[in-house]
Amino acid sequence: MTTTKLALVTGANKGIGYATARQLAGRGMTVLVGARDADRGGAAVAALRDGGADAHPVALEVTDPESVAAAAKHVAQEYGRLDVLVNNAGIVRADGSALPSETTLATLREVYETNVFAVVTVTNAFLPLLRRSPAGRIVNVSSEVGSITTMTDPESFLWPLTSVPYPSSKSALNMVTAMYAKELRDTPILVNAANPGYCATDLNGNSGYRSAEQGAEVSVHLATLPADGPSGLLWGHLAADDSSGALPW
Ligand SMILES: NC(=O)c1ccc[n+]([C@@H]2O[C@H](COP(=O)([O-])OP(=O)(O)OC[C@H]3O[C@@H](n4cnc5c(N)ncnc54)[C@H](OP(=O)(O)O)[C@@H]3O)[C@@H](O)[C@H]2O)c1
Repeated sequence: MTTTKLALVTGANKGIGYATARQLAGRGMTVLVGARDADRGGAAVAALRDGGADAHPVALEVTDPESVAAAAKHVAQEYGRLDVLVNNAGIVRADGSALPSETTLATLREVYETNVFAVVTVTNAFLPLLRRSPAGRIVNVSSEVGSITTMTDPESFLWPLTSVPYPSSKSALNMVTAMYAKELRDTPILVNAANPGYCATDLNGNSGYRSAEQGAEVSVHLATLPADGPSGLLWGHLAADDSSGALPW
């Protein structure tokens, strides 16, 4: 039974999730590296341990309720609680020229399975363990493209984007975040959505202008909020002046 804080990051074998696990370990936490592929997860854990992290693999395909239940059972048996859950796993898909009129139901369903439905499945599976923490934190890795305010502002740098599946999945995730924050408002558990900013990862062919490490700093900030920290925010990178703060829904 560990006495250090225990954090689970989904999709932690690469990208922002890996950097988040590395940074949380750097803050003294024991990190559970959620990965759907045992080899990729094992390689990430080995690299994290090489860097001095107390890292452990957790088999976790977030869209498979049986995998999620097995992961929660494993953490319950091994550790008995969870302090930080970072719902980081996410995918991007689009059809044709990414116009709403070209969107297929298959793509929409695929993206929502990972970016929305799985977050509810994982959160509900781990909530009993988070309730056993004196200071539970849930971070849902969202995006500014989920902000309806920003996406409908002609002055915004995101105005040219028209795709439905990924942006709308993050809008739904923002609402999921707000509703969990409301349900849990009288508990020590703080629930927030993170905007990492545009980071160079496999998700976007490494085209982002920020690093995965910079994106991870946003999740780490929300995962380590003090007891009087905010809950129910979309918080993170502000592109206008390259600072950090709350974003409009
Ligand atoms: N990069 C950006 O600019 C940016 C901006 C805003 C928000 N975000 C968000 O940040 C999060 C991390 O993205 P990233 O940029 O780091 O992308 P990434 O490098 O592609 O990493 C995504 C991670 O999620 C995992 N994953 C995907 N589907 C999964 C599933 N069904 N079950 C378990 N794991 C799954 C992937 O595992 P595999 O290796 O097995 O595929 C991988 O570990 C996502 O939620 C994304 O939407 C990214």
